[in-house]
Amino acid sequence: MQARSSSVDEPGPRSNILSELREAVAGGSDANVLQHCVQLIKKGSDCYDWIGIYLVKGTSLSLAAYDGKGETQHVQIPIGQGICGLAAKEAETIIVSDVNKDPRYLMCFPSTRSEIVVPIRGMRGVLGEIDIDSDVLAAFTNHDKQFLETVANILAEHLEK
Ligand code: SME
Repeated sequence: MQARSSSVDEPGPRSNILSELREAVAGGSDANVLQHCVQLIKKGSDCYDWIGIYLVKGTSLSLAAYDGKGETQHVQIPIGQGICGLAAKEAETIIVSDVNKDPRYLMCFPSTRSEIVVPIRGMRGVLGEIDIDSDVLAAFTNHDKQFLETVANILAEHLEK
């Protein structure tokens, strides 16, 4: 597959997205804010094919907002299961470069080739996470990790208000 053009490593577009996110979380109801956020995150790279925000509800993750290639059957994920559940349990970002080679991966879309899951860490633990699927193999770099961890910090401040 030919590599897609991407603005991933350019600071300009991503700083604009972070500014827009800060504005988005400054007002509006929770559901609307998170929906707006996934749409803004999607602008971070044309490799981001599906973006979801899950929130911790008891011992599970619950899908609160998504944008991209369609609905997932995984709207509730027990903490500890799949890449999502593991990232929440360990409170660490997980990048899977080839989902077909990772037995922990829970499949949502047959076209997905790689995935990143970034926990949203609050003062008292993990509040939720950002989950992104890409149809491109090894789509996620350290730049994506840094960008999305900044996004997660903005979301954490909002969710803890
Ligand atoms: N792939 C995830 C499940 C969520 S879907 O990708 C939307 C996982 O392995 O936990």
